[in-house]
Parts: sequence; C-alpha cells; structure tokens
Amino acid sequence: QQLKLSLEQIEKGGYEHFMLKEIFEQPKSIHDTLRGRLLVEEGIIKMAGIWDNLERLNQAQKITIIACGTSWHAGLIGEYLIEEFARIPVEVEYASEFRYRNPIISEKDIVIAISQSGETADTMAAIKMAKEKGAFVYGICNVVDSSISRVTDAGSYTHAGPEIGVASTKAFTAQLTVLSLIALKLGKHNGHLSNQEFMRLCTELETIPQKVQEVLESTHEITKEIAKSFVDAQNFLYLGRGYNFPAALEGALKLKEISYIHAEGYPAAEMKHGPIALIDENMPIVIIAPRQGHYDKIVSNVQEIKARKGKVIAVVNKGDTQVASVADYVIEFPETSECFSPIIASVPLQLLAYYIAVYRGANVDQPRNLAKSVTVE
Ligand code: AGP
Repeated sequence: QQLKLSLEQIEKGGYEHFMLKEIFEQPKSIHDTLRGRLLVEEGIIKMAGIWDNLERLNQAQKITIIACGTSWHAGLIGEYLIEEFARIPVEVEYASEFRYRNPIISEKDIVIAISQSGETADTMAAIKMAKEKGAFVYGICNVVDSSISRVTDAGSYTHAGPEIGVASTKAFTAQLTVLSLIALKLGKHNGHLSNQEFMRLCTELETIPQKVQEVLESTHEITKEIAKSFVDAQNFLYLGRGYNFPAALEGALKLKEISYIHAEGYPAAEMKHGPIALIDENMPIVIIAPRQGHYDKIVSNVQEIKARKGKVIAVVNKGDTQVASVADYVIEFPETSECFSPIIASVPLQLLAYYIAVYRGANVDQPRNLAKSVTVE
C-alpha cells in the first residue's frame, strides 16, 4: 500500500492531483504537438496524414466531425477553423447521434473522428458506419495504437502524453492545436489562405505554448482566490461568442464533471432567448471576452447581465479596461488571434473548475459516475 502510494505521488510529479499536473503540462503538450510539424522558418506545416491525402481532403464536398464530450467541443472549434481558413463546409455531430440517424454521407465526404482515448464506443461505431458509406475517415487521437487510430484511413496524433484525470484538459488543447494545423495546411494548399496570412498565423501559433505558460503563471493564484467565492454556488453560466462559444461549453463541462455544480454554456447572444431569465444576484456568469472577436457585442452582454445583478467573472485580454471595469472578477490572458484564443482562454477555466471542486472536497481525478474512456453505450 505504502509503495503504491509513493508510486502514485511520483507519477503526480509533486502536484496534488493528476488534473492539476496535466493543466500545467499544457505548454509542453502543445509544443510537442507542434514539434516537427509547424516549421515557421521553412514556411510549411508538415503533416504526413494530410499531405498524403491532400487531394481527397481538399476536394471534399463536406467534412463531418464526429466526437463525444470534450472532443466534440474541440470539433466545434475545428468547424470554425476549417470553414474560415480552408472554406470547406463542416458539420459537427455527436457520434452517438450520428450513428443512429442514417446521415447523408458519400464517398466524396471526409469524416474526422476526434478522441483522446481512441476507444470511445459511440465514436468507434460512428466511424464504422461512415466507412460503410464510403467516406474517408481521418482520426485525431491521443493514445497511440488505440482502436480508433487503427480503424481510421489516416490521421494525426495529438502528442499530449498520457492523460490520467477523468476531466480532459491537455488533450483538449492538443486537439485544438492539431485542428489549427490541419485548417491552415488545407487553406494554404487549396489557395483560400494567402501566403502572407498563412505565415502570420503560423508565426502566431508558434507563440501559443509560451502564452499558455504565461496564462498559467498569471492566473493560478487569482483563479484559486475567485474559486473560494463560489464553493456554494448552485448554478453557473458560461458565455462566449465565435471561437469562444465552444470554449464556454467546455468550461461548463469541466465545472459540472468535477464539482457537481450545474453549469451551462451558451453563445452570449443567445442569452436573451432564454437564459437571461435565470440571472439574479445568485447567478455567477463566466464570460470570455477577448479583444479580437465580437468585443463590442460582449461588452453589451456584460452590461445586460450587470443590470440584472448577475456576478460576472470576465476572462479578458491583458490590460482590458472596458469589461474589466464592470465585471466583479477579472481573469486576464495574453492576446492572440481570435482563432487561437480558445487554447489560451480555456486554461484559467480549467483552473477555476479545478479549485472550486477541490474546495468542495470532490474527488477531482475520479469524479463520481464517470470513466476515463466510455467503451460501452
Ligand atoms: C472530458 O472531460 C470527459 N471526461 C468526456 O466528455 C470525454 O471527453 C468523452 O468521453 C470523449 O472521450 P474521448 O475523447 O476519449 O473519445
């Protein structure tokens, strides 16, 4: 027993939980995912899986992304990335729905399956169905040689390393990194992305591991402090727009899985179509508001919330004054292109969920009723 305990402690590398260790590993896991692929000096993105199938991918009538949970959230951001840079129509579906609804898929379609474990039963079944219909299936997996990585026609690994905590953190940001690379590479080769814009985005993508390091250092203490005020919260809303709408969904999922607080993510503009009725002085609202990306619209959303006395936790860029001046709590993160901002903004949301759960005495690494990989229906 004693030996087992010390082995586990060694594995946790001095952190109290695997989840915290994995949150802090993100600068490295993102860097590892970019390494050997993003070659800024040569002006190229090297990905064998994409290069070998470039024609097929670029001629796709549509791309359907299938995944579950956090990987599905990454898929939603993938949709924004691929449509913006490669101009190929993308749909994102829960694998569990896709597999049972006789979707319209043909040989001209590409299906991208995203899975950390590579063993999720619904994703696996959805892949089999897509293959039967003749689609070309591209996998994005973290676990090397996993079932999904073996059944897909081609793919790219996320190099996040083993993820032990049930709540996915570093696998998610590594998935966003791979999806960014794919979108930029497809866009460059099909001519929708100019060389200049491609180079600008590649140069920015290269800075992301460093910016994630900065956000970890600058928000660790503040998220820990803010978490104390919300230990007894019953509900949470997470809002974002554009690329950060799926980041809001992911922030909410992290909180509910490990703290058992009910949380919902919404596109900020949808607030007035329902959730605004929930807002009073007892409703904490996390709102992601980077300068690049519908900033003015978010400012008015924050004002609407404050007029109803909601408690605003604003996740804003460094030096922000407008949202910060009306928010109750402010978490700052380094500025980047809008398309990469979810990679950075997600990090303080992971920390916030983590500390709220820790203060509530929850089993952070193994939340109740959840398994790391869902291999049954
Ligand atoms: C993430 O925090 C969850 N534990 C869960 O939603 C997970 O992302 C989902 O089960 C999909 O798993 P996969 O990526 O291994 O396929």
